[in-house]
Amino acid sequence: MSQLQTVDSVPALRAQINDWRQQDLRIGFVPTMGNLHAGHLALVKRALELSDRVVVSVFVNPMQFGPNEDYDSYPRTLAEDCDKLTQAGAHLLFAPPVDAVYSRDMQNTTRVEVPGISDELCGHYRPGFFVGVATVVAKLFNMVQPDLAVFGEKDFQQLTIIRRMVDELSMPVEIVGAPIVREADGLAMSSRNAYLSPAEREIAPRLYEILCRTVDALRSGEQDAEPLARRAEQELVAAGFRPDYVEFRHGNTLATAQSGDDDLVLLAAAWLGDRTRLIDNIHFINQ
Ligand code: PAF
Repeated sequence: MSQLQTVDSVPALRAQINDWRQQDLRIGFVPTMGNLHAGHLALVKRALELSDRVVVSVFVNPMQFGPNEDYDSYPRTLAEDCDKLTQAGAHLLFAPPVDAVYSRDMQNTTRVEVPGISDELCGHYRPGFFVGVATVVAKLFNMVQPDLAVFGEKDFQQLTIIRRMVDELSMPVEIVGAPIVREADGLAMSSRNAYLSPAEREIAPRLYEILCRTVDALRSGEQDAEPLARRAEQELVAAGFRPDYVEFRHGNTLATAQSGDDDLVLLAAAWLGDRTRLIDNIHFINQ
C-alpha cells in the first residue's frame, strides 16, 4: 500500500507536484467534498489506472451552497476519508482551509461561469450552484495542475459543464467521466443519502426504478419523450417524492432532446422529505 501524504497549503501541494513533474510522472486528480463512499473510491481507482500519481482534494466548497442549503451541516469526516484513501492507494490528499482557496470574500472574488446550461435543470433550482462548482474546479485545476481529472457521471450536468469550461478556457486537463456506483437496490451512492430517514431510504431506490422504466418505454417506442417524462414525474409523486424535474436531454450538449436524437440522457432531481434532494440519470443510446 502506498503512503498517503496530506497537505493543506498550496505551496506544499506545489512542491510535491513539481517533484513529480521533474520525474515525468502523469498526475491524476479527483476533486471531492469528502465524506467518501464507494462512488468516490471508484473515481480514485479510475485515476490510478490512468496516471502515475493520484491527488484527491477534500474541500467543502462554500461557493456552491445556497443561503438555505446544508453548508454548515454537510458531513466532514477527514480522518475516515484519510483511511479510505490510504486503502484505495491514493498518493496525496489536499485538504485546504477555506482561506487557502478563497483569499477574498466570495462575493468579490473572480468567478467562472459557463452560461446557459448553468441556469437549467439543477441550476434552475439551485441558483449560483454551478458558478460555485466551475469556480472551485478551475481554482483546484490551477493549484494541482493535473494531466487528467476524474468526475462521476452521477453529477451529469456538472460533468457536462466542466467539460465545456475546460474546452472553452483551453485548460490542459483531460476530463474523464466514471460510471455511477449504486447500492444493491439501485440507489445511486451519494454523501447526502445519509440524510434519509429509514422510511425515506426504503422509498429512495424507486427513483432509479422509475427512470429505468421510462427509458425502456422510450426505447420501445411506447410514447414520445415529453409525455413519458411527465408520467415519470407523476410516478415519483405517487411514490412519495417531490420532483424538481424529470427531463430527456441530448447526452452530449444537454440541449432539449429532439426527435431523432440518438445520444440521450434522462435526468431527474427529486426531494424525499425536507432534507434530502436526490439526483440520478441514465445516459443511453436510443436506436
Ligand atoms: O462533485 C463534487 O463533489 C463537487 O461539486 C466538486 C466537483 C468536488 C466541486 O466542489
